[in-house]
Amino acid sequence: MYAKNNKTLGGNKMAITVLKDPMIFKIDTGNASYVMAVMGQGHLIHLYYGAAIDGARVEYLAAERGRASFWAIPAGDEDSFSTDVMPMEYAGQGTADLRPAAVATVDADGDNVTDLRYFGYEILEGKPDNPGLPHTYLNQGDGAQTLKITLRDAVKDLYVDLYYTAFDFSGAIARWTVVRNAGAQAVDLTRVMSASLQFPGKDYDLIHLHGAWAREFHVERTPIAHTTQAVSSFRGSSSHLHNPFAVIAAKDADEDAGEVYGVSLIYSSNFLIETDVDAFDGLRLNAGINDRAFCWRLEPGASFATPEAVLVFSDQGLGEMSRAYHKLYQRNLARGKYRDQPRPVLLNSWEGVYFDFNAEKILRMAKSAAQTGIELFVLDDGWFGKRDNDLCALGDWVVNEKKLGCTLHDLVEGVKATGMDFGLWFEPEMISPDSDLYRAHPTWCLHQKKRAPSLGRHQLILDLTRKDVQDYVVEAVSRVLSSADIRYVKWDMNRNMAEVGSACLPPERIGEVYHRYILGVYSVMERVTSAFPNVLFESCSGGGGRFDAGILYYMPQNWTSDDSDAIERLNIQYGCSMVYPPSAMTCHVSAVPNHQVARVTPLNTRGNVAMQGSFGYELDMTKLTPEEKEEVAAQVEEYKRYRDLVITGSQYRLISPVNSNECAFMTVSADRSTAILTYVKKLNDPNPPVTRVRLKGLDPDAQYRGVADGKVYSGRTLMNAGLNMPAMRADFDSVRMVFERV
Ligand code: DGJ
Repeated sequence: MYAKNNKTLGGNKMAITVLKDPMIFKIDTGNASYVMAVMGQGHLIHLYYGAAIDGARVEYLAAERGRASFWAIPAGDEDSFSTDVMPMEYAGQGTADLRPAAVATVDADGDNVTDLRYFGYEILEGKPDNPGLPHTYLNQGDGAQTLKITLRDAVKDLYVDLYYTAFDFSGAIARWTVVRNAGAQAVDLTRVMSASLQFPGKDYDLIHLHGAWAREFHVERTPIAHTTQAVSSFRGSSSHLHNPFAVIAAKDADEDAGEVYGVSLIYSSNFLIETDVDAFDGLRLNAGINDRAFCWRLEPGASFATPEAVLVFSDQGLGEMSRAYHKLYQRNLARGKYRDQPRPVLLNSWEGVYFDFNAEKILRMAKSAAQTGIELFVLDDGWFGKRDNDLCALGDWVVNEKKLGCTLHDLVEGVKATGMDFGLWFEPEMISPDSDLYRAHPTWCLHQKKRAPSLGRHQLILDLTRKDVQDYVVEAVSRVLSSADIRYVKWDMNRNMAEVGSACLPPERIGEVYHRYILGVYSVMERVTSAFPNVLFESCSGGGGRFDAGILYYMPQNWTSDDSDAIERLNIQYGCSMVYPPSAMTCHVSAVPNHQVARVTPLNTRGNVAMQGSFGYELDMTKLTPEEKEEVAAQVEEYKRYRDLVITGSQYRLISPVNSNECAFMTVSADRSTAILTYVKKLNDPNPPVTRVRLKGLDPDAQYRGVADGKVYSGRTLMNAGLNMPAMRADFDSVRMVFERV
C-alpha cells in the first residue's frame, strides 16, 4: 500500500486509496467507487466507476486483448496494448487513441499530438479553489479530499492536472482539469474537457434535457449507439435547446431503481457532453467546454482551468440521483444570504402590464397584491431610458422619471408603504443599437469589424471580455441599486450570440472570446452580488435559456421559463428537477388564457403547480375578481406555511408527466414530519379509472394526519399501499394534500 486516506465524517465513508505496482487510485464516496490504474508505458487507464466495491486491485477489468493489426500501438508498448481500445481516463488527441479525445493541443511547429503519461499525484485535504469559475465549495464542518493526478506530454512539456474531489456529505465527485504550459513555446489548446468517463458495454441510454424558448427542460431518453452523440450549446449561453446535464442510464433504470450516472457542468456558455461507443463496445463520455470555435493560447508559464463537472452515481434510479444534486447544489453551490432562506412571494409586472405602466398603475397593482399577502413587487422591463418596447435603450440604465411620473426612490417608498419590498429587472449584458450607450461606444459590443452584426430581439451583446465594459456594467447596475431600497434583482439575458469577436483581442485569440465572455459575466456577477449582499438575485434568460449550475453559484434562483401555463410547466419543472433544486426554480401563477399557449386552467392548479418551487404571481392583480383575490390570498398563506420545505425538503417524483395524462410529485421535510403531495390530471375522463399513488420518503414507522380530511395513515401503508387520487372535476384539475406527523 502506497497511501490511504480514510475519513468518515457526516456519515459518508469517503476515502482515497493509492496502491503501487501497478499504481492504482481508488476514490470511495460512500455509495460509489471510482478506480484508475497506470498501465503500459505510463497510460492512465479507467478501471471502474459504480456501486462501491471492496479492494482496489481490479486492473483485470482492463485486460489487454489482442486486436486486429489495424490498431496503432504507442511506441514502446506491448503489441497487445492499444490505447485505441483501452478505457483511457483522459485521452490526448493525435496519439494512437483515435476516439474523441479529452484534450487537444497544437504548437507553433505544427505538433498536434498530446501524448499524456502519468507524472505524479497528490492527495489534498479539502477542495482547492478554482478562481474565476463557479464551483462547489465546503461549508464549515464539511469534509472533502481531493485527488490530483498529473499527466505530462514530455515533448511539449505540458502538464495536465486531473482533480477529483470526494465529499464526506455527498456521494458526488467533482472533477476539473488544469493544463499548464511549462514548455518554451506557446501552445494552442483546441479542446479541454472537464471530465472524461469510460463505461463498459453499450447497453445504456442517454437522458438529457432539450427544448426551446418557453418549453425548456423536456426530458428525452435515447439509446446510446455506436456513434458520437452530443448534447451541446454553441449559443454563447447554456441555452434553451440543451441543458449542460446528462445521464448515462442502465437500460432497466427508472425513477426508483437501477444504475444511473449524472454529469452536470457548472458552466454557462458553450458546452459539450458527448458519448461515443467504440468498436469494442466501450462507451466514452466527454464533458466540458464546447471545442467548436474554441482555441485558447497558452503562453509559456500559463495555465488554463476548465469548469467543474459534477458526477453523481446512483444505483437507486433517477430520484436518488436528483436528490443528491439538489442537496449539493442547494448548500454547496448556491451562495448568499438567501441560500437557506424561504424566498419571498413576489408579484412580477411583466405579463400583467408589459411595457405599459407608470407609478400610479404600479402602486395600484402593489396595493392589491399586498392585500393578498404577497411580499415583493418586481418591476420588470421598461423603467429606464426610452424603453417603451424592446427596440431600444438597453445599456441606458437611467430611470425614466417622465414615464414613471416620479423618482425611483419615491416609487420604491410608495411600494414599501403597501407593506411590500421592491425588486427591479435589468438586462446588464446587452446594448441596443438605439441607445445613448451605443452612440457613445459603438465598439463595446461583440462584433466582427468587417461585418454587419446580427441582431437578436433588436439588441447586441456587450463585450464583457473587456475590463472597461465590465466596470461600466458594475457601475451602472450599482448606481441604480444604491439609489433606492431595492431588495431583489432579476438579471435577464435575451439573445444567442453571432459574429462573436472582440475589438480588444488579437486575431490569434479569437477562439477565446466565448469563454472570456462568460468569465467576464462571472466576474461582474461576483462584484455586483457581493456589493449588495442583502439583495435576492434571480437569473433569467428569456426563461430558462441560461438556467445552469454556473449561474446558481451567483444567484440562488432562476426564472424557469417564460411559459407559466400550468400544464406545460409540468414537463418543464419535471425536467428541471432532474438536477436543479426546487428552490432554484421560480414558478409563477399567470393569467388565463395563458399568454403563450392560450390554455385556460383553474387558478387552483396554477397555484398547486407553481408551489413546487420559489413561488410568485405574474398578472395584473387589479383585474382579479374578489373571489379570485381571496383564492390568491389562500394560496399565498398556504405557500408561506410550508415554504421552508422548498429549501430544506426532499423532492420525489411520483408520476412523470412525459407522455402521460397525469403528474404527481411530493416534497418531504428534512425531519420527515411534513409531506406535501401534488397530483394533476391534464384531461379529465368520463367515468374515470382510479389512479393509485404510492407515497415516498415518509417515515415508515410514523403516523401521518391528512390536513384536509383529518384521517390518520401509517407512513408505511402510504408508501406500500398508496392512496387513491380523488376524481377530478374538470380538465386540468389538481389536488394538493398535506400530511403531518401525529
Ligand atoms: C424575458 C424574460 O424571460 C421575461 O420574464 C421578461 O423579463 C422579459 N424578458 C422582459 O423583456
